[in-house]
Amino acid sequence: VETFTTVAALRHFLRQEGGDAGVGFVPTMGALHEGHRALVRAARRESRLVVASVFVNPLQFGPGEDFERYPRDLPRDAALLAEEGVDALFAPGVAELVPESQETYVDVPSMSQELEGRVRPGHFRGVATIVTKLFHIVAPERAYFGQKDWQQAMLVHRLVRDLAFPITLRVMPTVRADDGLAESSRNAYLDAASRQRATILYRSLVAGERVLARGVRRRAEVEAVMAATLAEEPTFTADYAVVRSAYGLKAEEQVTGDVALLVAGRLAGTHLIDNFVLRVEPDGVRPARDAGGWTFTV
Ligand code: PAF
Repeated sequence: VETFTTVAALRHFLRQEGGDAGVGFVPTMGALHEGHRALVRAARRESRLVVASVFVNPLQFGPGEDFERYPRDLPRDAALLAEEGVDALFAPGVAELVPESQETYVDVPSMSQELEGRVRPGHFRGVATIVTKLFHIVAPERAYFGQKDWQQAMLVHRLVRDLAFPITLRVMPTVRADDGLAESSRNAYLDAASRQRATILYRSLVAGERVLARGVRRRAEVEAVMAATLAEEPTFTADYAVVRSAYGLKAEEQVTGDVALLVAGRLAGTHLIDNFVLRVEPDGVRPARDAGGWTFTV
């Protein structure tokens, strides 16, 4: 994998190699895990040229969050990307992507105020700004995001549409450990005991899905079951346990159609999130998508 640290060098490479090739792009903050591997594999299957970025974006961390201690291991990340046949790795320093004089920001208010946006004020403005910037630099045909950050994926969907980026958005299903814990770079902060306790997020989603499978359709009732399950783990401080429409993230009284069950909270000082995206029909409940994930075209 060729590694580029400047915008100019990456653009030069893309002009030389890109041509008419549809570029598949996987933006990441590094500390790559099996979830990222699944994104890269999908990009590799679907694109002639695959570009991944590793950039811990300071704009999306609030004061007192974990920007400084966020796990960084570029040689390991580069090795994983090489193993998966990625063509180019873009790993700029902070000053290359975020000049001190930067004053232009991108915001998607309908997606950035609630849930993670409420827990982490300014977070999604930072995400939207850097994703816009990366899309301008890489100009991909397809971009790959993980379902685990569902609200982020829906925000990027809106951004792509609003700013008329000619990009197909692919959202790939969450990769889980055998005990259900979603793969996440922040799992690296957890010791063995906390890691085991962190499965409470998954167990809460399973509990929510179970009441839906029993025929309950009142949102408040499903959310109450999810919240009660989270409360079973005394070391976990819940931020939210909600059911929203899957793509607009709206709170409807009745749960029907494609919906997202979203949970978040803190455990041992680590902020953790998870979700299920389900199709709720009169006669039952199932995952809204199979292993192929979602494709959003504009
Ligand atoms: O999901 C992430 O890793 C980040 O939020 C992203 C999309 C790379 C933007 O910094």
